[in-house]
Amino acid sequence: MKDFKERVIIALDYDDLSSIRRLVERLKGEAYFYKIGSEAFTSCGINGIDLIKDCGGKIFLDLKFHDIPNTVYRAVKSAGKLGVDIINVHASGGVNMMRAAKRGAEEASNITGKNIDVIAVTVLTNLSDADINRIFYNFEDENNASGGLGRNIVSDLALHLAKSAKISGLDGVVCSGHESLRIKNILGGDFKTITPGIRLKSFNDKNIDAAKTTPMDDQKRVMTPSAAFNSGADYIVVGREITAAANPADALQNIYYDIENNCK
Ligand code: C5P
Repeated sequence: MKDFKERVIIALDYDDLSSIRRLVERLKGEAYFYKIGSEAFTSCGINGIDLIKDCGGKIFLDLKFHDIPNTVYRAVKSAGKLGVDIINVHASGGVNMMRAAKRGAEEASNITGKNIDVIAVTVLTNLSDADINRIFYNFEDENNASGGLGRNIVSDLALHLAKSAKISGLDGVVCSGHESLRIKNILGGDFKTITPGIRLKSFNDKNIDAAKTTPMDDQKRVMTPSAAFNSGADYIVVGREITAAANPADALQNIYYDIENNCK
């Protein structure tokens, strides 16, 4: 797969600038895209962003805005002016909120001269069908034996939210690898998909001994890097596979090896 290294986004989930600096320096020349999420942004503010920009890296500012349209418009415009490449909001904030986010990003782009993709979060990859049922429909009946939605709740909900993101003029969605192919097929190849929940060994593979793999932690809908790209992801987000590894640089090479050898 061509230029795949620019499509691997590394989640800098740290609460201090020195850890961010250490990882960025260790991965220098091999990593090109980083994600600053709520932990890093709350702890380090714009310093983390400036550090990545100084190294020439691209930035996904993952603050998952979800508020009234005017607040999200102003938040996205402010975030865009920091010079980041991707900003996200929750699709469940609704069409008016997403349109406001896009307007904020366009106005920031006009100021910075830099394109900003606004991406909607569909259904977080730590949530299963039973979780969604429990959150929105039926508190008692986790297995959805009666009432609530049928099976494939997550997949149908992710597609519905992706459609609403597209209608709102957003550039794509965050979704698990289990949904990206369906979303791409229906909404078109240009509508971007970003896939977190990446583990080198897929827990969906029954032949794999779970005890010998990286923990799934709080993720449920996981995929290997190559499987995620083969399912149509434009970008993958990799966090603990790298940040929790004894040697993060080796962990990144293992990810690249999987992509180079198993992507179609
Ligand atoms: O690879 P790991 O499980 O550590 O990845 C977690 C990262 O992916 C976190 O930064 C989390 O915020 C992000 N994430 C996301 N959207 C999801 C699930 C996780 O942005 N649906």
